[in-house]
Amino acid sequence: MKSYLVTGAAGFIGSNFVKYMLQKHDDVKLVILDALTYAGNLGTIASDIDNERCFFVKGDICDCGLVDDLFAEYKFDYVVNFAAESHVDRSIENPQLFLQTNILGTQNLLDVARRAWVNGKDKLGYPTWRKGVRYHQVSTDEVYGALGAEGYFTEATPICPHSPYSASKASADMVVQAYRDTYKMPVTITRCSNNYGPYHFPEKLIPLIIKNILAGKQLPVYGDGSNVRDWLYVEDHCKAIDMVVNSGREGEVYNVGGHNEKTNLEIVKLTISTIRKMMEDNPAYRKALKKQVVGADGQIDISWINDDLITFVKDRLGHDQRYAIDPTKIKNELGWYSETRFEDGIVKTIEWYLNHQDWVEQVTSGDYQKYYDEMYSNR
Ligand code: NAD
Ligand code: TYD
Repeated sequence: MKSYLVTGAAGFIGSNFVKYMLQKHDDVKLVILDALTYAGNLGTIASDIDNERCFFVKGDICDCGLVDDLFAEYKFDYVVNFAAESHVDRSIENPQLFLQTNILGTQNLLDVARRAWVNGKDKLGYPTWRKGVRYHQVSTDEVYGALGAEGYFTEATPICPHSPYSASKASADMVVQAYRDTYKMPVTITRCSNNYGPYHFPEKLIPLIIKNILAGKQLPVYGDGSNVRDWLYVEDHCKAIDMVVNSGREGEVYNVGGHNEKTNLEIVKLTISTIRKMMEDNPAYRKALKKQVVGADGQIDISWINDDLITFVKDRLGHDQRYAIDPTKIKNELGWYSETRFEDGIVKTIEWYLNHQDWVEQVTSGDYQKYYDEMYSNR
């Protein structure tokens, strides 16, 4: 039985990773450490926590004493660090929190793991490590900065972040690599492109657009909508992390992406047309609409679900133009490939949101409306 500390797993990708791991492996024990910020929701993982194979601890990755205690109790073999402040727009409003959680939190986890896992010294004075342990940092393609119309990020692309979020993630990556170089710590890093799928908090583009369409609200597209992101279905990211933690080479970085580059305007239009088509094909889905207009035929009208909902708003400051990943290394070394085509993944995602309106209500019942008004009223 391998014991994992999985941080930030009450959020989007971490929760999907927990579900993926519990389904895929019988021989894993997962301890979730999550501070339950606005982005973390216990309801997301409630059905996974059984106190046998999956445990939950509420707490901060910066809390040294707590993380120490968890290492003593659960004797972790692996740390997989998802915990982070993850939204670029929020990082523009409040950079300091991003530096605190994303950099110092990572450094704290590395340090506690080092204390727990080092079992001696070699002839040159380098620490020696308990066999089979590994620290894995979940990073992002945003650390590479932005691309023009051509080219891809490879693992050799220089780090050149632009937003406070990406700068904090890049710094964390460098701290991880410093622990590798200085202490020979067994570490790996994955840098993934934009994820989409179930349990995505509706402040990020795709879930926000779905939520707004269902409510009959305007769909805010920053600038002219020409910025490009490389979208990956979240389960494909989880598969990549599992592979890298178990078979990736120590000290290595692996880029993860599925060659699904689309402009934001394309994404918004595709989401509109997919929702409309799903509701045409299956009128039962129309019950999920918050805006209910009954047509002359007595059916719930959906003719208003069209591109007129799109509204171009003020651009994000320092908005990166294009991200695109070259996943050759993880493909060649570990045999990873993305299994879900965007056309299928977006239908699965929308279907999930249509069937989980209660989850959306729950996670947006707190300060969400205040956030939305502050973020979008001046745009
Ligand atoms: P998220 O915002 O949905 O979830 C983050 C989780 O971390 C939340 O559950 C939150 O409560 C928790 N958290 C925040 N601060 C904490 C702290 N101090 N201590 C403990 N827990 C804390 O984020 P996500 O989209 O799931 O991203 C997870 C990771 O993947 C992040 O490190 C992010 O940088 C990286 N990543 C995200 C994407 C993407 O498209 N979303 C792409 C590539 C990489
Ligand atoms: P986002 O989901 O915030 O991810 P990231 O900034 O990490 O790539 O945004 C994806 C793209 O969508 C990005 O180019 C900004 C844009 N965007 C909008 O146009 N409107 C919105 O309301 C949001 C949240 C994002």
